[in-house]
Amino acid sequence: MKKILVTGGLGFIGSHTVVELQNAGFEVVIIDDLSNTTIGVLDKITEITGTKPDFHQIDLRVKNDVKNFFENNKVDGIIHFAAFKAVGESMHKPLDYYENNLGALVYLLQEMRDRKLDNFIFSSSCTVYGQADELPITEKAPVKTAESVYGNTKQIGEEILKDASKAHNLNIIALRYFNPIGAHPSIKIGELPLGVPQNLIPYITQTAAGMREELSVFGDDYDTPDGTAVRDYIHVVDLAKAHIAALERLINKNNKKGFEYFNIGTGKGSSVLEVIKAFEKASGKTLNYKIVPRREGDITAAYADTTIANKELNWKTEKTLEEALGSSWKWQQQQ
Ligand code: UFG
Repeated sequence: MKKILVTGGLGFIGSHTVVELQNAGFEVVIIDDLSNTTIGVLDKITEITGTKPDFHQIDLRVKNDVKNFFENNKVDGIIHFAAFKAVGESMHKPLDYYENNLGALVYLLQEMRDRKLDNFIFSSSCTVYGQADELPITEKAPVKTAESVYGNTKQIGEEILKDASKAHNLNIIALRYFNPIGAHPSIKIGELPLGVPQNLIPYITQTAAGMREELSVFGDDYDTPDGTAVRDYIHVVDLAKAHIAALERLINKNNKKGFEYFNIGTGKGSSVLEVIKAFEKASGKTLNYKIVPRREGDITAAYADTTIANKELNWKTEKTLEEALGSSWKWQQQQ
C-alpha cells in the first residue's frame, strides 16, 4: 500500500482529498498545524472512510520538526495543501505569507532531495493567469504579474518547483484550481470559514441561513452577458479526485516532464447572478442581495479550458453547479 503525506489534510480541500485517497486504497498520513481548522475533522474523515489517518500536528515553518517527521516516516508521495489563502490578508501580512507558503515548500523539497523521495502535488491557482486575454483559459496562457501577495506565492511556488524538479530530478505536478465550492455528500466535512466570509458561496449560504443580512454583489457593469463577474466553480469532490489522478500519473510514471501543471475546473463559467439563481433552485430559498460597486482587485471572467487535464490526467468533473450549491447549503444548515 502506497503511503501519501497530505499537508493541510484537515483543511477544506485537504480533508476531501484524504477521503478520496483512502477510498482509492492509499494509506494517508496528515500534517496540519490546526491554524485554520479543528481536530474534529479527523474524526469526521474516519466516520466517512472507516479508517483513521495517521495525524501529526506540525508547523511546517519549523525546519527541525519537518526533518524529524521525515526521519520517522517514509512516504511514496506528498500532496501539499498547507498554506495561507486569504487574498486581502496577504496584502497586510506579506512576510507571513512568503514564510508560510514558500518557506515550508522549500523545507519539504529539501527533505525530498536529501531522502530521495519523489512524487509531489502542489496546490496552485488560476490566479496565476490574472485576467487572461482569451477565454476559456488554456495552460498556454501566460502567467501575469500577480495582483496579490497570495497570488505571488503561487507563482513563485511554481518557479521553485520547476527549478527543484530540474536540478534534483523530482516529479511534480501543480494543479491550478479554479473556484472550489461544495461539501462532501455525507455532509460530514466542508468549508469552515472563520469570521465574515470573503468568498461568494459561504457568504450566500450564511445569508440564506440568516447569519448575514444580505449578499453584496460586487459590480454589475462588467463586460459579461449579465454584467456580473464570471468564474468556474468546481465541486470540491471533483477537485479532490483530480489529485488522485495526478498522483497516479506520477506513481505510474506517465508524466511527460518533471514539472507539469494543469487547469482544474469544470470548463463552464457562471456569473454571480447565475450562481444566485442556481442556489435559489438548489435550496428553495430566496436570497436577499443588492448590487454594490466592484471589489478592488477582481477580474472580469475566468474559466478553464480543461482539454489537457481531461486527457492527460484521465479525469473530468462529474458534479453540477446545483449539486455543489445544494451540498454547501446542507453543510451550512448543519453547522
Ligand atoms: N463576490 C460577490 N460578493 C461576495 C463575494 C464574492 O459578488 O460577497 C463575487 C466576486 O466579486 C467574484 C465572485 O463572486 O466575482 C467570486 O468571488 P470569490 O471571492 O468567491 O472568488 P475569487 O474568484 O475572487 O477568488 C478565487 C479564490 C482565490 C484566488 C482567486 C484568483 O478564492 O483563492 O480566485 O482569482 F486567489
